[in-house]
Amino acid sequence: MKLLFDNAAQLVTAAGPARARRGDELRALEVLTGAALIVDDGRIAAVGPREAMRAAAPDAAVVDCGGRVLMPGLVDSHTHGIFGKPRHEEQELRAAGVGYMEIAKRGGGIHSSVRDLRARSEDELLALALPRLRRLMAHGTTTLEVKSGYGLTLDDELKSLRVIRRLQQALPIRLVPTFLGAHEIPLEYRAAPRTREEYIALIVEEMLPRVAAEGLATFADIFCEPGVYTPDEARVILGAARRHGLQLKLHADELETAGAAELAAEIGATSADHLAAVSDAGIKALGTAGTVATLLPGTMLFLGRPRQAPARALIDAGAAVALASDFNPGTSPTVNFPLVLTLAVSQLRLSVSEAILAATVNGAAAVALAAETGQLAPGFSADLALFDIGDIRELPYWYGDHRCHASWVRGRPAFGPGA
Ligand code: NIG
Ligand code: FE
Repeated sequence: MKLLFDNAAQLVTAAGPARARRGDELRALEVLTGAALIVDDGRIAAVGPREAMRAAAPDAAVVDCGGRVLMPGLVDSHTHGIFGKPRHEEQELRAAGVGYMEIAKRGGGIHSSVRDLRARSEDELLALALPRLRRLMAHGTTTLEVKSGYGLTLDDELKSLRVIRRLQQALPIRLVPTFLGAHEIPLEYRAAPRTREEYIALIVEEMLPRVAAEGLATFADIFCEPGVYTPDEARVILGAARRHGLQLKLHADELETAGAAELAAEIGATSADHLAAVSDAGIKALGTAGTVATLLPGTMLFLGRPRQAPARALIDAGAAVALASDFNPGTSPTVNFPLVLTLAVSQLRLSVSEAILAATVNGAAAVALAAETGQLAPGFSADLALFDIGDIRELPYWYGDHRCHASWVRGRPAFGPGA
């Protein structure tokens, strides 16, 4: 079936190479006026002047964009969407001066979500995740990476990944599953008789083979941070993940410098995420590596941390910068990706062009989907978001608002009228 998307105030195509953009490319966001777009069988068939598009597809069903802004659906390449209860009590503790890592040392933080998730069934987790992912979709996200990582036993990690698989069947959004068994060292492996080495062996010898054999994940991730996993441990775990055919991601230099960005670049990880504490050497390494530098400014905002990732230095060094929500119960419980764009412009000092490309094309590159989604050009999947604004610069401007009118994934309504 053919669709003609007509009457948009602006058509933001983000068209260009089907790979992460860097440097000057990040300043060159293509925005068309007086343009329309043809979708054929779930793919973008043509983009061009309205008259020409109408003539080319006279029998297409018309989608009236109503003078709004049509753009590629947002690609949120970093979330921890499978969890049970919210962790609002930690927000007050932090306000009272107890740091994120201190809360973890007291058995809270990730450990608290782990205790909670282990006690819940797969059906229960699915029921909790469905409305949360619908809220993420309602803000214009059409591709969403979702991590496990609150199970930390073989069965509980498999349970989390199976929830992601069921969400993929239940929702029109495009999901990318990531295995994050190395999110923490579980409390039961921190004191005799069990050791952290035994937990790492469990990941390498039991979890990864099962996850790979059941095809439950595309990526493996690790929290490489002082007090959690060391770079040497990350090397072992990610090396094993790669041997099982998984692509690699790292939570890198999130709170303290650990050399994790350098490691990500060296091993050819698809992305290195967070980077609020990245070193100069790490910036340099990401400047020339194929690894996408994914920034999560909502996390630093919510944690009340004084320092955001050095986005300008990363871009100046040549890094391919992406943006993501980090949606999770501990450090970033927001479903509002456009709000992350606001933070990118006002806190990370990105231009609107850089922020939009970071949340579309480069987000897609961060989940190895840059040839499939993230831009509106012939051949790409018709993953679209329609925002109730008249100029793309309004997207980061109306901060915290809800401006998404509708979205489509593979040419099918995902959110809004018709979905
Ligand atoms: O990206 N840092 C590790 N993982 C998450 C937080 C997880 C949690 O606190 O539950 C993050 O910030
Ligand atoms: Fe995270």
